[in-house]
Amino acid sequence: MRKLKDNILEVGAIDWDRRLFDQLIPLPDGTSYNAYIIKGSEKTVLIDTVDPTKTEVLIENLIKAGVDKLDYIVSHHAEQDHSGSIPDILTIYPQAKVVTNPKCKQMLIDLLCIEQESFIAVEDGQTISLGDKTLQFIYVPWVHWPETFATYLKEDKILFPCDFFGSHLAAGNLFVEDKATVYEAAKRYYAEIMMPFRSNIKKNLEKISGLDIEIIAPSHGPVYNEPQFIIDAYKDWVSDNVKNEVVFAYVSMHHSTAKMAEYFVDALIERGITVKQFDLVGVDIGRLAMSLVDAATVVIGSPTVLTGAHPVAAYAAILANALRPKARFASIIGSFGWGGKMVEQLTGLLPNLKVEIIEPVIAKGYPKQEDFTALDNLADKIYQAHKSTGIIS
Ligand code: FEO
Repeated sequence: MRKLKDNILEVGAIDWDRRLFDQLIPLPDGTSYNAYIIKGSEKTVLIDTVDPTKTEVLIENLIKAGVDKLDYIVSHHAEQDHSGSIPDILTIYPQAKVVTNPKCKQMLIDLLCIEQESFIAVEDGQTISLGDKTLQFIYVPWVHWPETFATYLKEDKILFPCDFFGSHLAAGNLFVEDKATVYEAAKRYYAEIMMPFRSNIKKNLEKISGLDIEIIAPSHGPVYNEPQFIIDAYKDWVSDNVKNEVVFAYVSMHHSTAKMAEYFVDALIERGITVKQFDLVGVDIGRLAMSLVDAATVVIGSPTVLTGAHPVAAYAAILANALRPKARFASIIGSFGWGGKMVEQLTGLLPNLKVEIIEPVIAKGYPKQEDFTALDNLADKIYQAHKSTGIIS
């Protein structure tokens, strides 16, 4: 249990040892499921709950905090890492009402089988008084599910945005201490979770810009007592600006594609382009996702396996397509033995990317001089493409 301010406590759980989220997202630094108790002069509210694996920690913290009567549970988001303990909390505090929006209410009924009569549905902008404190609800849809909203605690100027602005970072300190570490974790989180909804997040940033915010208390990672730090970072990430960077993700079986990769990356570096290279075997997809936040160009390298792309390269393409980075250009390099449809298959996996495909370079067998010349040409075209966008002067 950690104190934000008088009568405002963090009562969630730190999950130091979790290493995977959604059986997909690596958590190198663990995570936390922040939940908050606000004690008003008349009513007490719990802001979100915790992952079901940590329900006991939440209950112990509520006991420690002396919460013998709970009036409201605000549920900002139906995903179970924040909503999963609601049924148990309702068992302990049967008089509590779940305060949420109509969309989230239906999702909580569908996912957690919570009874209809347990809810109070609130509209965008609606307020609820706790006596000396006032909760104002602000719809911020698609961060990162359709039902998401935030709560602004007016008197204390605290925004509780749930996943929005969060970071998968287990830390004992409640507030941000090491900005560089939190920036890295928050950018990784944005890349993995929020990037597909960049345009919605832009609108939501504008929507909250009118609030006087002193503290942002998200549901994962440290609390921001200098909120402009994370607001400015988000403004940069959601902007349309790209950087003079190529994300190059490849896999090789018998070193033909690897030799091309080595030559191609050197060619890009010689032209002053920053390269972020990933061998896709055993890659940390969080780092790969993070690199996609800013890059102007994405290039995938693959050999041909049974007439198609290497499945690991296809996985990278599917992931990039799902994350919808703002990259403007893409290409493919790789090799084949006797034929195949590797290029068509990979480009077909990228329909969500609004990119211009720069002509791929595919070698027959081990790369030869004409292939290295083609790789130089590809590097030249990428340089010219970056120049045309104004990111190289
Ligand atoms: Fe942290 Fe979308 O749940």
